[in-house]
Amino acid sequence: MIPESFIQELLHRVDVVELIDGYVPLKKAGANFAACCPFHNEKTPSFTVSPTKQFYHCFGCGSHGTAISFLMEYSGLGFIDAIKELASRVGLLVPEDKGRDGKRAHDGPKLTTLTDIMDKATKYYYEQLKQSEKAISYLKGRGVSGEIAQKFGIGYAPDGWQNLGAAFEDYTITELQVAGLVIKNEQGRLYDRFRDRVMFPIMNQKGEVIAFGGRVMGDGEPKYLNSPETPLFEKGREVFGLPQARVALREKNTAIVVEGYMDVVALSQNGVGNAVATLGTATTATHVQKLLRQVDRIVYCFDGDNAGRKAAWRALENSLEALPEQKSIGFVFLPDTEDPDSFVRKQGAEAFERLITQATPLSEFLLRELASRCDMTSAEGKAKLVAEAKPLLTRLQTPLLRLQLIKRLAEASGFSQAEVERLCDLRPVVRRAPARSPRQAPSLLRPLLRLLLQKPVLALNLPLTALPVNSAEARAVKHLCETIIDAGEPVPAYAALLERLRGNEDEAILREAAAELMQQPFAEEDIDAEFDGAVKRLQEAEHKRTFTLLQEKVSKLGVAGLSGEEKQHYLQALSERGRIG
Ligand code: UTP
Ligand code: MN
Repeated sequence: MIPESFIQELLHRVDVVELIDGYVPLKKAGANFAACCPFHNEKTPSFTVSPTKQFYHCFGCGSHGTAISFLMEYSGLGFIDAIKELASRVGLLVPEDKGRDGKRAHDGPKLTTLTDIMDKATKYYYEQLKQSEKAISYLKGRGVSGEIAQKFGIGYAPDGWQNLGAAFEDYTITELQVAGLVIKNEQGRLYDRFRDRVMFPIMNQKGEVIAFGGRVMGDGEPKYLNSPETPLFEKGREVFGLPQARVALREKNTAIVVEGYMDVVALSQNGVGNAVATLGTATTATHVQKLLRQVDRIVYCFDGDNAGRKAAWRALENSLEALPEQKSIGFVFLPDTEDPDSFVRKQGAEAFERLITQATPLSEFLLRELASRCDMTSAEGKAKLVAEAKPLLTRLQTPLLRLQLIKRLAEASGFSQAEVERLCDLRPVVRRAPARSPRQAPSLLRPLLRLLLQKPVLALNLPLTALPVNSAEARAVKHLCETIIDAGEPVPAYAALLERLRGNEDEAILREAAAELMQQPFAEEDIDAEFDGAVKRLQEAEHKRTFTLLQEKVSKLGVAGLSGEEKQHYLQALSERGRIG
C-alpha cells in the first residue's frame, strides 16, 4: 500500500514526456508531443503525450495513462515496481510497503537478495555443465549447441546433496530456501532441490533468473522438476524464453506459444526465435496480455495429442477476454506424436514457419470444437451448439470478432443472426470510445467534465445537487469531484486523479474527456467563465426536466395530483418561466 500522497508527489516530480521520450522518440505536435504508438501497429502517429496534463493517449488504440501506466504497459512492470522504478529515477524514497495489518508486504528476504542468489546459482550450474560429460552429451544428443545453451543459460546441477555449498559461503541462510534452491527436511537437514538435472533458468522480462526447471536425463520422475512458487516466481504470470525471444518477437510481430522448455530451445536452435513456453500450466489471461503487449499475434502450437488439444482449448478460453481489437490468435496442431521440438528437427524451420502462417483462426477452432461436441444433424444439437457458444461469446470484448463468430454460428446452426444474438443474450459490446448517437442531445456534462479535469480545484464550487441523476456521466462527475475534495491540499492534477481512480468504473469516461481536452484545451483565462456557464446551463436543464415531469403529471392528474413539495416547485418554476419569457 503506497500512500496516495506519495503517488501524487511522484507524478509531480516525473516528467511523462521525458520518460516516454526515452523509449519512444517524441516529436512536438502543437501543444503536445506525438509518436507512432508503441502499443499497436501504425504508420501515422496517433500516440499523443500532454506535457501540461502529464498523460498520454493514443487516438488509435485508446491506450491512456500516466507515467506509471506507461512503465507498466511498456516494460510489463507491476504497479508497485513501476512506482519504485520511477521513484529511483527522481531520487524519491518509496515509503515502506505496509500490509493490511501494518506488517511488511512480505516478510523475509528482499527481492534483490533473492535475485542475486538466483544469479549466482545460474552461474554455478552453467559452470558445472562445462564439466559434465554426461550433461553435455545429453544436450548434444538433443541437438543443442553450446551457443544456444549459453543463450538460454542452460546448466547442470550435479548429483549430490549439498553442492550449492560450493557456490554460497553460507549454505544455511534461509534465503536459499526461500529462493527454492535448498530444502529443509523434517529432521532439519538441508539439501539441494535440484540434483543431477539439466537446468533451464526461467527469466522475467528483465532477464533476471526467477526460477528453474530441471530435467532428468534418464527416465526418472518427475521428468521436469520446477522451482516452487517464491516471492520472485508466480507460475501463471511467467513464460519461458521471453528475454531470449524479444528481438524475434519484434521482427515477426508474432509470439509462438509452445508447451515445453525444449520446444523453445529446439526452435531457437533451428532459427525460429519467437517462441516461448508456458510453464507446465495452462495459458492464462495474464500470459496473453503480457505477450500481446509486445506482438499483435499469438499462435499456440501444442502437441498433436489429446492433452495438446485440451491445452489449446484452455488457451482459447483464457484468450477471449484478453483479446483486444486488431490482435489475432491462431492455433497449430502438430501431427499426433510430434511436438515442436521433434517437428522442427525433422522438418526444419521453413516447414514449421509454414504451419505458423497457416494456423487455424480462433473462430474456426472454436466452432469446430463446439460442433464436435454436438450432434449437428439434429435441431437439438444445433441449439446446443449456440448454447455452448454463449459463455464464450460473452467473454469476447472485440465487436468484430464477435460478429464474425455470430455469423458463422448462424450458418452452422441454421438460426438467423438475430436469433443467435437473442439466444446468447448479447448486448452490444461497449466500445472504448463509443460514438455518440446523433439523436442524443450533446451532453452538458461533457464540457463540465473537461473543465474539472483541466482545473480540478473547480470541483469545490460545483453544486452537486445540480447534477442530473441516472446518467453515467453524472456519476463520473460526482465521483471525480468527491475524489478531488477527498484528496484535499494540494489539489491533485489530472495524472494523480487518474491514479486515484485506477481500475474504477468511471475511468473510461474520464479518459475520453481527457483525450478531448488534449485536442482542445480551454484557454486559461476563459476557464472560470466557461465553468460558470456550464453550471448554469446544467441547472437550467435540470429545472426544465423537473418542470416537464411535473407538467406531465399535472396534465394527467391535475394540480391536485401533486404533493405539497411538488406543487411548490411547480409554481416556482411557472413564475420563473414567466420571468424568463
Ligand atoms: P512434456 O511432457 O510435453 O515434455 O511437458 P517436453 O517439453 O516434450 O520435454 P522433453 O522434450 O521430453 O524434454 C511439457 C512441459 O510441461 C512441464 C515442463 O514445462 C515441460 O517442458 N512439465 C512436464 C513439468 O513441469 N514437469 C513434468 O514432469 C513434465
Ligand atoms: Mn519434447
